[in-house]
Amino acid sequence: MSQFWKPGAEKPRLLDDEEGGVVFLSSSLSSASSIGYGYASIEKQRQRLPVYKYRTAILYLVETHATTIIVGETGSGKTTQIPQYLKEAGWADGGRVIACTQPRRLAVQAVASRVAEEMGVKVGEEVGYTIRFEDFTNKVRHLSSYLSIFGVIIFVMHAGISSLAVQDLTAIKFLTDGVLLREMMDDPLLTKYSVIMVDEAHERSISTDILLGLLKKIQRCRSDLRLIISSATIEAKSMSAFFHARKGRRGLEGVELVPRLEPAILSVEGRGFNVQIHYVEEPVSDYVQAAVSTVLLIHDKEPPGDILVFLTGQDDIDATIQLLTEEARTSKKNSSGLIILPLYSGLSRAEQEQVFSPTPRGKRKVVISTNIAETSLTLEGIVYVVDSGFSKQRFYNPISDIENLVVAPISKASARQRAGRAGRVRPGKCYRLYTEEYFVKEIPAEGIPEMQRSNLVSCVIQLKALGIDNILGFDWPASPPPEAMIRALEVLYSLGVLDDDAKLTSPTGFQVAEIPLSIWVSGRGAQKELDEAKLRFAAAEKKVIEIREQLRRIAQRIGIVMKSCESDMQVVRKAVTAGFFANACYSEAYSQSGMYKTVRGSQEVYIHPSSVLFRVNPKWVIYHSLVSTDRQYMRNVISIDPSWLLEVAPHFYQQHRLNPIH
Ligand code: CDP
Ligand code: MG
Repeated sequence: MSQFWKPGAEKPRLLDDEEGGVVFLSSSLSSASSIGYGYASIEKQRQRLPVYKYRTAILYLVETHATTIIVGETGSGKTTQIPQYLKEAGWADGGRVIACTQPRRLAVQAVASRVAEEMGVKVGEEVGYTIRFEDFTNKVRHLSSYLSIFGVIIFVMHAGISSLAVQDLTAIKFLTDGVLLREMMDDPLLTKYSVIMVDEAHERSISTDILLGLLKKIQRCRSDLRLIISSATIEAKSMSAFFHARKGRRGLEGVELVPRLEPAILSVEGRGFNVQIHYVEEPVSDYVQAAVSTVLLIHDKEPPGDILVFLTGQDDIDATIQLLTEEARTSKKNSSGLIILPLYSGLSRAEQEQVFSPTPRGKRKVVISTNIAETSLTLEGIVYVVDSGFSKQRFYNPISDIENLVVAPISKASARQRAGRAGRVRPGKCYRLYTEEYFVKEIPAEGIPEMQRSNLVSCVIQLKALGIDNILGFDWPASPPPEAMIRALEVLYSLGVLDDDAKLTSPTGFQVAEIPLSIWVSGRGAQKELDEAKLRFAAAEKKVIEIREQLRRIAQRIGIVMKSCESDMQVVRKAVTAGFFANACYSEAYSQSGMYKTVRGSQEVYIHPSSVLFRVNPKWVIYHSLVSTDRQYMRNVISIDPSWLLEVAPHFYQQHRLNPIH
């Protein structure tokens, strides 16, 4: 492997040393003990995790501090154990609930099932989860068997039973940070929660940042609420400073408050094994091909141990799997025994289970993943990591008002996390598909919070719906760019969601805020084989029915009358235009190249080849999202009649006087 790879000097530091704050604990405990988990009782397994040593310290800090910041290596037991410790210590007594948020849906489901298994309950009972369109909490046990026995009686008592169910059987609830934000609309102080653990806080998703800002506000009104901010790599000092800086505390200095307002910082050190870093000698031009060759080389030359490959998204993961399967089949070297699996959000239950299940003896698992496996999920048995150096990131330009999903370089912090995944069970190796010089000189130390690189329309709606009027003055962990805020306010005003005073309009604004949806749900698996496609379609269709049902209930609650469009698809296209008028594009009469221009900003864009309108090239279109590869491609496109734009968004198009509407 030496012509292609050279070992690098850098050793991954899995945990940045953290000083300061109220408490600093450290230990030389190693997480080495995970080998042989299959034979240990669940209780023993739990006690072997690095956080177990800190159980008492964690409970003490949470009792005495309003906010506790916990930093600990991925796999040390933060997510699965801390909520259980809290429950055992009584934080869920009296019908209160312990919440643990995650930025990713898949992580929510995976940790909920793991914790339910550890507690010996079914998901939805004492341990539940809620993600958008899926609520697995407070399931009354064996309701169906009661129903069959007591039939009519139960029907009469139905109201009573439902209220019993609402009396929170679920003590530990995992949910996405977005879902917790929505819950605030009904219960602004989140009164049913005793402790809220904001996990994976280093990801700095928009929802996490909004949540942190709002939780800080809630703390002022609820001295009984405790926050835990946890993560693998968080900048604990700046997070602590954010929670400590409070306006209007004059006169309180020197007074001992319980809980203390100054956040506690706890660092759980459970260092993994050493990971040897290898860099490519020359930059690679095609990371899919390079990843495939590297996996085959590892499989050929290295001792047993599973491989985790970090790529950017479903497209390149699928491409890699296809290429790897082909090359493994035709390769002269020993390439039998490879089990190749994808990992990205949106996988079915069965696909998830395969990824987490133990590798059969004599086989080698290759998991091809997005950055979900970077810190959100722990895979046992990984010894080799292949890091493409890229992830899909959102970028927004408020001047052109274009938001793009771009394949962009990861940060050094991410690269270290990725490498760390190889050292869980024994010393491992990480193959970086970039040069050492590139790592040292080119890539940024930390990523940019999503808040600072996104379109803020839905963020503004959510805050407005929660009664936060002064959005520019809101206490953000990272301030969004003012231009992006102004753009968002402008679009919402044009949509009729905000009025002249930038308040939500009634009823439109409030109705919009209630509906958890953007119009398109992206399709999956288009290039897969037919059977699989059919299966997936069946699953997708089931999902659509559930979503429709939930939307129907919301519509009923907020007083929107449902009406079928029958076969009149024009009404649907017009409705989409009313929502996405800002994304209108036209193709110029002389253009043969399939090139379009955005009405605002005259940016060059093209219809994505996966679209049914590819090569049909209608003159006017509206897109849902843009992806950048060699060009800017529009995804999810419909054709429109330009006169609709003036009809549905007169403020917008007159106000901007952009390109003349032909
Ligand atoms: O949150 P953190 O990364 O600190 O760790 P965790 O998710 O609580 O995982 C703790 C341990 O539980 C992992 O090291 C795995 O051994 C185990 N685990 C598992 O086997 N299966 C899961 N789905 C989740 C965790
Ligand atoms: Mg975790």
